[in-house]
Amino acid sequence: MQQKTVYDFDSIISRDETHAEKYAARERFFGKSDVEPFWVADMDLPSPEFLSRALHARVNHPMYGYTEQYPAVFESIRWWMSEQHDVNIVSDDRILLSPSVVTSISLAIQAFTNEGDAVAVLSPVYGPFFSCTTANGRKVADCPLLVQDGRFAVDFSAFEQMVSRSDVKLMLLCNPHNPGGRSWNRDELECIADICQRNGVVIFSDEIHSDIVYSPSSHVSMLGIDAARSNVIMAHSIGKTFNCSGLQASYLVIPDAGLRGRLRIAQNRVHAGDINLLGKTAIATCFSEAGAEYKRQLVAYLHENIKQVCGLLRTSGSIRVMEPEATFLVWCDFSSHGAWDGVFRRLVHDANVALSGGSFFGPAGEGWFRINCGHPRRLLLPAVERIVRLFG
Ligand SMILES: Cc1ncc(COP(=O)(O)O)c(C=O)c1O
Repeated sequence: MQQKTVYDFDSIISRDETHAEKYAARERFFGKSDVEPFWVADMDLPSPEFLSRALHARVNHPMYGYTEQYPAVFESIRWWMSEQHDVNIVSDDRILLSPSVVTSISLAIQAFTNEGDAVAVLSPVYGPFFSCTTANGRKVADCPLLVQDGRFAVDFSAFEQMVSRSDVKLMLLCNPHNPGGRSWNRDELECIADICQRNGVVIFSDEIHSDIVYSPSSHVSMLGIDAARSNVIMAHSIGKTFNCSGLQASYLVIPDAGLRGRLRIAQNRVHAGDINLLGKTAIATCFSEAGAEYKRQLVAYLHENIKQVCGLLRTSGSIRVMEPEATFLVWCDFSSHGAWDGVFRRLVHDANVALSGGSFFGPAGEGWFRINCGHPRRLLLPAVERIVRLFG
């Protein structure tokens, strides 16, 4: 019997010489090149060695030419969606490869809305939901989330009112939610889908964080919601789960042939319906039994990080913490400590930590910061202790 690999997430691995954005862009965004980076949502935890081996094996062949979208890529996506998310993708042609989820967001906006139309979002939410909308000349229809019992909740009557506006044609849903870490439950998703269906609004369900969900929560894909069957586009990627966003390998699942055709046209216009050859190798390698075991160990490690980070932050007594059900991100409210730029300066210069500022997630994020907990515990916890000492 083959021995099970035990993954080491505790070792500190230097990212020097790799041009990792979260390190290389520190001077530009924080004015300090040695601040410890807990901002950009990629982890300082290693991808599985079996992925490195598969990439090496491919790179060892000296030709890197145009590469077919070969069956193993689609088979592995279908296997993963079925095993991990209880979603049965009935045929390969329902899957569209895409270089990145954000590329797909922009193409969906182009495919399903016209200039001047509006795109619905539940904010605060991942920044490109706003920037892709406005960059394409569309308006943002922003429905701020409520905070109920310390976690985000949808204000369904406000949402329904907004979605019923004649200019709203598309909704961008973050499922699970970044930055709040909500793993939306079936009732909530059914309600969103029902409102969108009745109002003829297409749902783009960004499920990039769906593999990182903490028990007892579990991910429900919009693909499994009946009311969304004819109007959903689901986006997923290997980027977050296997910490390989630089490979740029994502995909869409679109059950409805009409929507699929429109999205394909948008892709073809800018020749963005394919991914690079290493991305294909990576998808076919990661979405496997070995990948499922890596993911299981990763989620266990991250869950412990999240629990310890939230516990520490709560001892401050003044930082409000949203403990996530999903994602490796913790959303916290520093607004009791005064103006945002003062808090930002203290975090960077006194605590030596770089966090994502809340305004990246829209106006509803003002006063909040997001901490990336995808780091070895012996770097992460001392950084959080410094924050608590400073603001406690
Ligand atoms: C919700 C969400 N969607 C998309 C992305 C980026 O995906 P990609 O790199 O595939 O464009 C991120 C990255 O942080 C994210 O949090």
